[in-house]
Amino acid sequence: MSLISKSIIWQRLAEHQADISKKSLVDLFQADPSRAQKLRIEAAGVTLDYSKNLINQQTLDLLYELVIEKNLGEQIKQLMKGGVVNCTENRQALHTSLRCDSGRENCQQKRVNTTFRRMGEFVNRVHTGDYRGSNNKFITDVVNIGIGGSHLGPMMVNEALLPYKRSSLRCHFVSNVDSSEIHHVLEDLDPESTLFIVASKTFTTTETLTNANTARQWFVDNSLADADVARHFIAVTANVENAKNFSIEESNIFPMWDWVGGRYSLWSAIGLPIALCMGMDIFDELRAGAEEMDLHFLDTPFEQNMPVIMASLSLWYINFWDAHSTAVLPYDHHLTYFTKYLQQLDMESNGKQVTNFGERVPYHTSPIIWGDVGTNGQHSFHQLLHQGTRFIPTDFIISMQAAYPMRNHHALLFANCLAQSRALMTGKTEAEAVEELIKQGLDKEDAESLAPHKAMPGSRPSNTLLLKELSPKRLGALIALYEHKTFVQSVLWDINAFDQWGVELGKELSSEIYSALCGHDFPEKTDPSTRNLIEDYRSAI
Ligand code: F6P
Repeated sequence: MSLISKSIIWQRLAEHQADISKKSLVDLFQADPSRAQKLRIEAAGVTLDYSKNLINQQTLDLLYELVIEKNLGEQIKQLMKGGVVNCTENRQALHTSLRCDSGRENCQQKRVNTTFRRMGEFVNRVHTGDYRGSNNKFITDVVNIGIGGSHLGPMMVNEALLPYKRSSLRCHFVSNVDSSEIHHVLEDLDPESTLFIVASKTFTTTETLTNANTARQWFVDNSLADADVARHFIAVTANVENAKNFSIEESNIFPMWDWVGGRYSLWSAIGLPIALCMGMDIFDELRAGAEEMDLHFLDTPFEQNMPVIMASLSLWYINFWDAHSTAVLPYDHHLTYFTKYLQQLDMESNGKQVTNFGERVPYHTSPIIWGDVGTNGQHSFHQLLHQGTRFIPTDFIISMQAAYPMRNHHALLFANCLAQSRALMTGKTEAEAVEELIKQGLDKEDAESLAPHKAMPGSRPSNTLLLKELSPKRLGALIALYEHKTFVQSVLWDINAFDQWGVELGKELSSEIYSALCGHDFPEKTDPSTRNLIEDYRSAI
C-alpha cells in the first residue's frame, strides 16, 4: 500500500495550496457571492457553515479525490458492519452499534439490548427507591470512578444536558489518582445514600482501582457493615472476574465489550451516570441523535457529508498549511468539558506516527486540540488566535436558543461568537488601523507608529457549528460528528484510530518508579535526573 503523500493528488493539493494562499478569505468571498450559501450544510439538526475556510471549489474537488483514493466509502461500511478496523488489536470498533435503534442493515444492537434493558430497570429502581442504600436510605448521590473514556464522556454529557436533568440524584466524578479529588468529593457525602460506579473497561487501570479501593475503605470506615459494600458498589466493565474479585455482585456488573473502544464508549453502559442522573429517556435521545448523524455519514455523498468535510478540512490545514493545532471554542457554558472530551477522542485516536502497515508517516497526524468556552477565552488566549504568529484553524459551536433565557445574555453571546469568526477572517490592515487612530484624534506620526500593533493579519479560517438548541439529540449528533471526523482523518492518514499503545510505556515506568518510591530497588538503568527526584521523595517522607 503506497503512502497517500506519494500520490499525484497530494502533489496537486500542495501546488494548489501555493496558489490559493495568495488569496485572502475576504478575496474568496468577493470572488463568489453565493459562497456563504454553497459552503453550508445541515445534518441531524446541526448546521455547518464552512464558508470561512481557505478553500474554493478546486480545493474541495481535490480533497474529495483524495477521499475516493483512500476508498473511504468501503472503510465506512467496514466500520459500521463490524470489520476488524483496529488491526493492531484485531478488534472491531462497533460503537455505532450501540445507537442503531432503527435496525439498519448489519446493525448489531440486538447484542446490547439486554444491557440497555438492565440499565433502564436499574435506573428505575434507584429513582423509585426500590433500590436503596444501607439503613434503607434512598440513594441521593452517585460517584462515577473511572478515567479517560470511562470518565470524560459521561462527565461532559451530564454537564451539557444539565437543563434536561430529570432526577434529583447528584452525580460526582472522580478520575485523578491525586487524592485531593476524591477527598473533596467524599467529604460532603453520606455513605448510606451514596452509590459508587466503578467504570473501567479493563478493570486494571491503576487510577480507577486506587480510587475504588479508597472509596470502599471510606465506606467501611464510616461505620457501615462490610456486607453493604455489595449494595453500594456497582461496576461497568468487560472484565467481570476482576470486578467480582473487588466484591461487586455479578447482578451489579454491567457489561462492556472489547469491540467498543474506551473513548467511544459513552453509548454503552459507561453511560450509566447519564442514565441515572439525567434519565434513561435522555440517554436514549442522546443515542438517537447520534444515530441520525451515523445515517447521514453512511448514506450521504462525500460532497455533502459533514464528517467527511470536517475531516478533509482538518487534513488540508495540518498537511498543507502547517497548522499544528485546532482550537475548539463552544459558545455554550454547558459545553465546558467538550474540548477536553475531544482531546481524548482525536489525540488518543490519531496521535500516531506509523501507518496501518507499520511505515513511519512522513506527514503530521492528529491536530493538537485545545480551547475553552466563549466568551471566557476572548479575555485570555484569543489574542494569540488574532495576532500570534501561528496559524490556528478554529471550530466555533453555538446554539440558537439559550438554555436559560435571561435579559440580553444570549444575543450578546451569539454576537461575540460571530464577531470572533468575523474578526479572524477579516483582520485589520495597518492602513485601516492608521485611519482609525487618526479618527480617534492621534496625529499621523503617532498613528503610524501604533498601527502595526493594532493590525491583524486576518484570513484565519474557522468552521461554525450551529445547533437549534443543545438538546440530548443535538448533542448526540454533535459527538457522533466528531467521532466520524476522527475516523475519516485516520483513513486518510492510513493510521489506526482505535489503539493507544503510546500510553503503555508511561504506565510501565510509573509502576517501576512507584516500587522505588516505596523503598524497593531503583529501576534498571534509571537516569540520574529521575534517580535524584526519587531520592528527594524518599527523603521527604
Ligand atoms: O490509558 C488509556 C486508556 O486505556 C484509555 O484509552 C481508556 O479510556 C482509559 O485508559 C481507561 O481505561 P479503562 O476503562 O480500562 O479503565
